Amino acid sequence: MLPFKLLQNKTVLITGSNRGIGKVAVEVFAMNGASVWACARKETPEIEYFLNNIAAKYGVNVRKLYFDLTNEIEIRESLKTLVTEKCKIDVLVNNAGIAHGGFLQMTPISKIKEVFEINFFSQLLIIQYVSKLMMKQKSGSIVNMASIVGLDGYPGYTAYGSSKAALIYATKTLARELAPYNVRINAIAPGLTETDMAMQMEGKAKDKMVNDSAMKRLAKPEEIANMALFLASDLSSFVNGQVMRVDGGM
Ligand SMILES: NC(=O)c1ccc[n+]([C@@H]2O[C@H](COP(=O)([O-])OP(=O)(O)OC[C@H]3O[C@@H](n4cnc5c(N)ncnc54)[C@H](OP(=O)(O)O)[C@@H]3O)[C@@H](O)[C@H]2O)c1
Repeated sequence: MLPFKLLQNKTVLITGSNRGIGKVAVEVFAMNGASVWACARKETPEIEYFLNNIAAKYGVNVRKLYFDLTNEIEIRESLKTLVTEKCKIDVLVNNAGIAHGGFLQMTPISKIKEVFEINFFSQLLIIQYVSKLMMKQKSGSIVNMASIVGLDGYPGYTAYGSSKAALIYATKTLARELAPYNVRINAIAPGLTETDMAMQMEGKAKDKMVNDSAMKRLAKPEEIANMALFLASDLSSFVNGQVMRVDGGM
């Protein structure tokens, strides 16, 4: 743990906070003094327990928003709360996402659209809401969770990789559009990371990714969360429009 808190008096909104990288990031942010708007698909006793525990453990405010990223109305209804309450959001971490493996010829277009709905369109909608708040307050940092698959070609990952590549393009363009408002936006491109997502991956493809990495192992979720912390904090005050690979060297 760092000897000082990097996000004291800051508020972070993060999606996919119930498991995987997002859940670990919630704790890393809270540990660093941030209040958290934790977003998840649905309310469950497990997530309520986890978030209440985080609030008590680190003495920070943790509020919850529940919406499904395939449901535009739910997203809008939830995010309206931020606007009506004139909330100050310092950091947005667009973390939630789904993977999909399968050759293009065997993938229905409806599936590709679903992947884009979750990994790209919903992320843009959330950025629309939150960036407006950030532009008004003239400060903010947005972190989009992309993937090395959105940068490098991986056979069988056309849908997933294209959705992440689209998010990377949006990151680079929005970096130029938002900079005049003192809002930064960057992306993280994790390599294979020890979460449910990686566990669901087909064995050979998984082995290849691990072997491609100089460090020959999967990332730990906290190694990705720590990059999100860096990009969220003022330590990265001149980092904008970048895609930070966290892949053990590829
Ligand atoms: N793990 C890796 O190897 C890896 C590598 C590169 C990039 N990434 C990226 O890192 C991010 C986090 O991945 P992870 O490894 O933590 O995956 P994970 O363990 O599978 O968690 C995915 C998260 O996204 C949420 N989510 C998925 N679909 C949703 C929907 N329709 N509505 C609301 N929430 C939804 C999940 O909620 P539910 O529990 O409700 O499903 C869950 O919280 C993703 O964007 C992923 O693409 C992961």
